[in-house]
Amino acid sequence: MHERTLPIATSTAPTQVISTKKRQISVVFRHAEPAAAPWTDRSQPAVQEKFPAEDEPFHEIWQELDRLVGLDCVKEVVYEIYALIKVNQMREQAGLSRSQQMYHMVFKGNPGTGKTTVARIVGKLFRSLNMLEKGHLIEAERADLVGEYIGHTAQKTRELIKKAMGGVLFIDEAYSLARGGHRDFGKEAVEVLVKAMEDYKDRFVLILAGYPQEMDRFLRMNPGLPSRVPIHIDFPDYTVDELIQIAMNMAKENEYTMLPQTVMKLKHHLIEAKAKGKEDFSNARYVRNLIEKSIRNQAVRLLRMSGRQPGRQELMSLMPEDFKF
Ligand SMILES: Nc1ncnc2c1ncn2[C@@H]1O[C@H](COP(=O)(O)OP(=O)(O)OP(=O)(O)O)[C@@H](O)[C@H]1O
Ligand SMILES: [Mg+2]
Repeated sequence: MHERTLPIATSTAPTQVISTKKRQISVVFRHAEPAAAPWTDRSQPAVQEKFPAEDEPFHEIWQELDRLVGLDCVKEVVYEIYALIKVNQMREQAGLSRSQQMYHMVFKGNPGTGKTTVARIVGKLFRSLNMLEKGHLIEAERADLVGEYIGHTAQKTRELIKKAMGGVLFIDEAYSLARGGHRDFGKEAVEVLVKAMEDYKDRFVLILAGYPQEMDRFLRMNPGLPSRVPIHIDFPDYTVDELIQIAMNMAKENEYTMLPQTVMKLKHHLIEAKAKGKEDFSNARYVRNLIEKSIRNQAVRLLRMSGRQPGRQELMSLMPEDFKF
């Protein structure tokens, strides 16, 4: 395992756990560390409203992130990464050494909690900070990496890494690479990934995503991984109020409105669906599907109205009966 000196993290615990009211982020830097970690100081708000003027491109992308409902801890970590990159750039200008930081990440969360959305934004952010050449996102899963015969997996994985150069390689359900144990080709894919993470650390960012418990188990099974994936971000399930806000935003983006009685009906349904679905409840994705279905139901309802053209308000309103559960 590689030991390297970083300007961040603590000397006692390898894992910094940052808690806010509702959520928790684990930022893990397994390296030699000075005594005080900047992110243990919560006296200053971590997420700043203002960025230097030259950061205009960053600012625009930041707003995209900020518009996402909830995800406060995710936003905080992204701001911390921004701060680290900026300070490193300043250190370089001041003739100081640049830390050999890796930015590979683990996104832990249940379905529909915003992992892919944030990964796409992270790519753009790194591009705006000149940390990545292109900032594009390549989304992959086990079948894109694992082949069918000896040597096939290494070739497939290398090709994928090549495509991701200059951007982000996002591997969904990454724990499935450990599915078949030692004789499975998934292991070969992980070995190729681990090598590329080290060799091309400045050229692409790897994001491994999946269910929290499975991801923890997966990392434990691969000794080369934890030290190379220093940034862990938890994506908690959305609360019912956040899901309602997401639904309202989605409706608004499409120039629809929801009447208070519609919101109430949706709220009751979400409370039930969340309780029933547990880990399989697909959070914001579930809400997106509900909104899309309600828009189709509204269209059918309006067409069936006999004898007259619907007015502007009717065209915009999603009624309780448009949500059929
Ligand atoms: N905080 C949020 N605010 C608004 N919309 C959101 C938010 N989080 C997710 N969404 C929307 O919900 C949908 C699902 O999000 P996304 O695909 O990023 O989730 P995911 O965690 O990658 O899910 P999966 O694990 O199923 O791949 C997308 O349409 C996205 O735009
Ligand atoms: Mg996804």
